[in-house]
Amino acid sequence: MKVQGIILSAAVLLLLHPVSAVKSGDFKTCSQSGFCRRGRAIAARARDATASWKSPYSVDASSVSVSSEEALITAKVQSSLYPDVDFRLEMHVEDDGVVRVRMDEVSGLRKRYDEAADWALVKEPTISSDIRWTAGKKAVSAAYGAGVEVVLEYEPLRVVVRRHGKEQVVINGRGLLHMEHFRTKETPVANEEGLDEQDVMTSLKANAWFEGEDQDAYWEESFSKWTDSKPKGPESLSVDIDFPNHGHVYGIPEHATSLSLPTTTGDDPFFTEPYRLYNLDVFEYIASSPMSLYGAIPLMHAHSAESTVGVFHVVGSETWIDVAHPSPMSSQTHWISESGILDLFILPGPSPDDVFAQYARLTGTAALPAHWALGYHQCRWNYVSSDDVRGVQKQFDEADMPVDVFWLDIEYAEEHKYMIWDQKTFPDPINMTNDVAAFGRKMVAIVDPHLKRAEDYPVYSAARDKGLLIKQSNGEDDFEGWCWSGSSAWVDFFNPDGIEFWAKLFDPRPGKEWSWTQSTEDIYIWNDMNEPSIFNGPEITLQKDAIHYGGWEHRDVHNINGMPLVSAATSTGLIQRGDVRKRPFVLTRSFFAGTQRYGAMWTGDNLGTWEHMAVGIKMVLSSNIAGMVFAGSDVGGFFGNPDAEMLVRWYHVGIFSPFLRAHAHIDTKRREPYLLTEPYKSYVRNILRLRYSMLPVWYTAFRENSETGRPVVRPHYAVFPQDLNGFAIDDQFFLGSSGLLVKPVTRPGVTEETVYIPEDEVYYEYFSHQTYHGSAEGKNVTVPAPLDRVPLLVRGGSIVPTRERPRRSSSLMAQDPFTLRVALSKSGAAKGELYLDDGVTFAHRDGALVWREFIAAKTSKTTTIKSRDLAVEKPFAADLAIYDPANAFSQSIKNVRVEKVIVLGLSGKPSSVMLTGGGELVWEFEEGAGSAGKEERASVLTIKDPKVGIAQDWEVKITL
Ligand code: GLC
Repeated sequence: MKVQGIILSAAVLLLLHPVSAVKSGDFKTCSQSGFCRRGRAIAARARDATASWKSPYSVDASSVSVSSEEALITAKVQSSLYPDVDFRLEMHVEDDGVVRVRMDEVSGLRKRYDEAADWALVKEPTISSDIRWTAGKKAVSAAYGAGVEVVLEYEPLRVVVRRHGKEQVVINGRGLLHMEHFRTKETPVANEEGLDEQDVMTSLKANAWFEGEDQDAYWEESFSKWTDSKPKGPESLSVDIDFPNHGHVYGIPEHATSLSLPTTTGDDPFFTEPYRLYNLDVFEYIASSPMSLYGAIPLMHAHSAESTVGVFHVVGSETWIDVAHPSPMSSQTHWISESGILDLFILPGPSPDDVFAQYARLTGTAALPAHWALGYHQCRWNYVSSDDVRGVQKQFDEADMPVDVFWLDIEYAEEHKYMIWDQKTFPDPINMTNDVAAFGRKMVAIVDPHLKRAEDYPVYSAARDKGLLIKQSNGEDDFEGWCWSGSSAWVDFFNPDGIEFWAKLFDPRPGKEWSWTQSTEDIYIWNDMNEPSIFNGPEITLQKDAIHYGGWEHRDVHNINGMPLVSAATSTGLIQRGDVRKRPFVLTRSFFAGTQRYGAMWTGDNLGTWEHMAVGIKMVLSSNIAGMVFAGSDVGGFFGNPDAEMLVRWYHVGIFSPFLRAHAHIDTKRREPYLLTEPYKSYVRNILRLRYSMLPVWYTAFRENSETGRPVVRPHYAVFPQDLNGFAIDDQFFLGSSGLLVKPVTRPGVTEETVYIPEDEVYYEYFSHQTYHGSAEGKNVTVPAPLDRVPLLVRGGSIVPTRERPRRSSSLMAQDPFTLRVALSKSGAAKGELYLDDGVTFAHRDGALVWREFIAAKTSKTTTIKSRDLAVEKPFAADLAIYDPANAFSQSIKNVRVEKVIVLGLSGKPSSVMLTGGGELVWEFEEGAGSAGKEERASVLTIKDPKVGIAQDWEVKITL
């Protein structure tokens, strides 16, 4: 680039175009947070002391007791620093081998917050009654499952899980465990009445090797112009969790970084801070950073070629996590939380799928979304009037672009009083919604949790009068802060009455109390700003000493805060609002472990840059492995005006995200895809059509997730857990179990892309049927990636069901025929699944569904392809009482055909293609091209209209 005759270097360019404008001064670093500083200081002292360091915590051997069913062990724990303070440790093994370790202070001056698990867990786990604990003088242990052993060592306290003798997870192995007990301000050493100041000083000194010499920010601390009153004093919790035999750790979303978490204790200047979990509204966040973002899931996977394990620390307070890799084959982590009990689940794996299942059993899976919610969502801040909405819809239709949902951001609401339409601009909201619904489409309106403090706003005044608002630190006065609606208040969703109150608001049927009668069942909800975002609060959020239901401080529940709103309140409201129960759709920005049960998330206010496009993929993968599968990032980037090339590539990223929504900031130029010029407009039309053609694949992947916890989009390590080359790959991924492997392009000027094939198998390029051969050691191949084509391969051995008729919206596809792409493996076999139901109601839970398996098998000269009913063979869901293949839903699609079967990779031209029980079918065959050892085009057999129903059993025989 030349500016005024000067050639600018890349470094200068970078300075001129800062990657991001995040105001880092708005947010704390670890050293600006008292408890994080204290926690990290313990780690530093331990490092300096090396061999002489010993954890002060030990188990009182005489206290160890095994419950009568021999399932649960409890023990008294003490720290040599404070011999008069008792802790209780509880440990059990659950039905599926998950180990739970809980530790709390006993009879302390106060109670530590212990309700995080009540929000996160789908139900209380069942404790295994098969476990036999063996208590010895130095440890108590149990062996179970396939070579798993869990040991609680007494002196010092250490918990180890081994598999076949090899350490998988070690808790407190480095001696960083510290549960700061409650104390009074006057007497830092609790329960030691009678001590004079001298004694206190002596005691402090004696403990300094562990805790440091001063009481660092115990009772109050300031950040910027804010002071946190910290009335409970210090209560933080530090614990080291190490994986001596696992070189990669993943998870703990939400961070904008690579999937395999970079070390935070090494030389990387951008990763000197621990990963922070503290839900925050970070303006213009950095595309590579351990900084906090909007959501927090305290789940980590550790992975090696031998096993995958997980740890899930159910804590709702601010948490910082240091990650180190002392060797390429091991990982160390250090978790520092501000408050709460130790409540740690160790997920023993040993495969990624086992860990997904173990985590899903604890926190649940994503509810099966409404089918339309997997279509394209068009959002912008803002569509400014009901006529604007109609105009946008019209232009989509004129451009022949499919779309399912139009969104309304905050400007629809008069003075940002959500649910109150601005009469000037939206005079006819119900008609507008009906006009959209006429094409089978839906609307989503934003309902943020901040309530304008205006007497004439019924939501606010009712919540206030009922005493449902979050309180100031004095526990009495309603908290007041600033957000979009100016001076605002917040409903306390930790209060069950708050949830009930909120859920009723969404009912369009008039009732005794105010509800949104100016809405219809075609309007769904977007809950934003629920970290909560408070413009004039510390770090743009709520003061930690604000008070919630039950007297808990905000500090204890901050990371959970967004969840009860979305979960219990909004989604329940949407389910209950009509005469027929329909699946809800709620988009949330803030999330915690378990939020997946209720809603979708997006990665917040990203920038229209290539870096943000790229990191969005990694963030969606990270939330997928942590259960929050219905995820996506703003297509196009929230801030900025992407050029046509970037926008086209971003649509490719978008259609391969579980949640597909374009969104833009109010200051950006309009960029609905119909505004693009040619050829970009046609590119995006085709890209959206590709998404719609693949809706059956997405829906099937969501079904699988809802039963097994397996992610909807899957990183390499999750699919090929033994392939070392894939452990750090996070720019290409698999779509469910479909066999589709995609690598969206996230750089400008690209015409081809390298794709990694992890196995000795043939992969087919989706559009051209070009073949690419992997190898047992894994292999990089180069695939064409012009702007109108996303690198997309089908793994040999897969059968991919699609619907290829372009339609305006997904609901108009309900009776459309299917195409099956049979991508034969090297050995000539293939398999695939298809799940369908009405996509709207809960009738699938009563068996109104179709679940098919397609199988291609080869015997010498014959390849048979057949379709069979999976639902009769596999239990669909634990709560599915009855399944009848002739159920109402399957009847409703009895005329839906397979219109085409495309078979890739037959070794020669068939002599006949017959429908078993029918006759010869109409088919075409195109020979493959190329010579041995070279990439070539696969042979393609196209069977036209095989005259079979999608929901019916059939078999086609191909004879060479
Ligand atoms: C927040 C959201 C963004 C939304 C805006 C106005 O910044 O993240 O998506 O458009 O608020 O509601």
